[in-house]
Amino acid sequence: MKILSLVSFLLFSFFFIDFSNSREVRKFGKRKQFNNELIRNTKFGSVEGTKKITDDGDVLVWYNIPYAEEPTGNLRWAAPVDPQPWNNILDCTVPGEVALQMDSDNIIGTEDCLNLDIYAPKNAKKLPVMVYIHGGNNQTGESKELKGNDIVIRNNVIYISINYRLGIFGFNILPALHTEAGSTGNYALLDMAKALDWIKNNVKEFGGDPNNITISGFSAGGRDVMAMLISPLFAKKFHKAIVFSGGMTIADVNDSIKRTASAVAPLAVEDNMAATEEEAKTWLMTDGMDVKEWLYSVSSERLCALMGNAGIRMSVFPHLFNDGVVIPEEGFSTSKWNDVPVLMLTGSTEFSFFNLGSGIWYTPSAFALGTDLQPAKDFACTYGSDMYRIFNAQSSAEKMFNKYKSDIYVCQVDFGAQNSGYPIEVVGSFHGIFIPMLSNDNTYSDIYDFESSEYQDMAAIFNKQLKNFLRRGNPNEKGNSDWKPWTPSQPLSMVLDAVDGKATAQCKNVSTSFAEIISRMEDDISVSDNGKTLAITNVLNGRWFSEPVDEYYNNPSLWE
Ligand SMILES: *[C@@H]1O[C@H](CO)[C@@H](O)[C@H](O)[C@H]1NC(C)=O
Ligand SMILES: *[C@@H]1O[C@H](CO)[C@@H](O)[C@H](O)[C@H]1NC(C)=O
Ligand SMILES: *[C@@H]1O[C@H](CO)[C@@H](O)[C@H](O)[C@H]1NC(C)=O
Ligand SMILES: *[C@@H]1O[C@H](CO)[C@@H](O)[C@H](O)[C@H]1NC(C)=O
Repeated sequence: MKILSLVSFLLFSFFFIDFSNSREVRKFGKRKQFNNELIRNTKFGSVEGTKKITDDGDVLVWYNIPYAEEPTGNLRWAAPVDPQPWNNILDCTVPGEVALQMDSDNIIGTEDCLNLDIYAPKNAKKLPVMVYIHGGNNQTGESKELKGNDIVIRNNVIYISINYRLGIFGFNILPALHTEAGSTGNYALLDMAKALDWIKNNVKEFGGDPNNITISGFSAGGRDVMAMLISPLFAKKFHKAIVFSGGMTIADVNDSIKRTASAVAPLAVEDNMAATEEEAKTWLMTDGMDVKEWLYSVSSERLCALMGNAGIRMSVFPHLFNDGVVIPEEGFSTSKWNDVPVLMLTGSTEFSFFNLGSGIWYTPSAFALGTDLQPAKDFACTYGSDMYRIFNAQSSAEKMFNKYKSDIYVCQVDFGAQNSGYPIEVVGSFHGIFIPMLSNDNTYSDIYDFESSEYQDMAAIFNKQLKNFLRRGNPNEKGNSDWKPWTPSQPLSMVLDAVDGKATAQCKNVSTSFAEIISRMEDDISVSDNGKTLAITNVLNGRWFSEPVDEYYNNPSLWE
């Protein structure tokens, strides 16, 4: 019996090494000729990339370079560790798989996700480096969300997009995993810190300047960048920061423990660890070894399916815990900031997609509104977008200003909004409106012709500003100061739009306040009382930006 299981263990291991570990296959793949122009030596081994020949110049790309070991087995819910060094040349010519995640009802991707993609112009030497953290509101996304071909040509920089652990693999605060002092459930942030260390130690080989790193991120990635600004773990890891639709979000540790325990409880019942979900929840909130052992025994596929579809509600999937380790307990009230020039951007119709995705609009109580349904939807989109807009940039600037010495720049993209020269139906200046400015190779072409001259004219202006910021931490051309840093007495944003075929770029006060927005909501008579109530209590509630609205209208908490 023993021998049999040993044999099957060996067979299994053999199988595992030979076929399942894609890095082994990539390493020992039969490639006869290597292209020296595309080979770089990292601290862990050599990598071969690929060349993309574009009309605007050649771009060298290395996909899927491991910056840490696969975070499975004992490394699940642990700090990432250095990848095993390799001897042959690693094939980095094709994009890797996405990190494990849900795609509608299917599980896709791999746990071997701690890798990054590097894009460089030809003959790069000591260029500024732009690092990008992708978004994924429902615990999804991938490094290829923003491809770097256009960025490196237009800005003459090195561009690096990283993959990191998602969902419950990236954030898990259950106490059984945190019995040692100094442990943290913010694994995704640990991954990003590891990637930045890798970049510091290796980017020179790819033509980048390790002393000139800009960290950037969109949506969830933008909120991660905001967290990096207050995290002691990230001190001195970057020199500038860009936040595309980010804002300040933190999850309370105790609330998060309860919520995570509830989400995991059904699996514990399935495995007979407890008789009822209530018992399982109580058990999961203890710090016993038995909980830990069981958590490690659960397959990643079962865990991956939990807490999906967060829809910018922290209570659905808690993350960014103020555990006093990676994120200070006092959160964004801290006085210790990683004080670097920062650029914060927002669109002006940021809530449009989330409003459309709100399940309540497809229920009998919404249909009962009849002709009042559309005005109710419009109401939610208008005020949700105005709140999300100030949440993404202005509110953060207000909170940071007194404790922050470096310049804070704020940008608002109005292109596509109802009052824009080029309104985009239904979605307006949506969450993600800047992505097509950064890359023509994007997934937004169904929404609008972003290759149109009006949009591209605006993109050209923004890319000049970006190029300046990546070099000097200031978006203005040398000797010019049209774009003023944000201050409380001059709360100015660079507002980008296009009118009559030409871009417009004006530094303006587009500030408002939550009180002002709520007062406009109160006065709005375009919508029936029932429609307004439905929007306030079921659509606008519990989102990143909703605290003032939830307080004013006494919306019940979505936390348990
Ligand atoms: C969290 O729970 C612990 C243990 O029950 C308690 O000691 C602590 O005060 C709680 N923290 C907060 C912020 O409520
Ligand atoms: C993500 O959220 C959107 C909007 O709420 C929803 O339509 C979509 O089904 C969600 N995707 C997953 C994988 O949960
Ligand atoms: C960053 O790079 C730019 C362009 O190479 C250079 O002008 C600038 O001085 C660098 N900044 C730092 C802090 O090294
Ligand atoms: C900026 O605009 C807002 C909204 O119109 C206004 O309330 C505020 O006073 C303005 N701030 C300054 C400093 O002009």
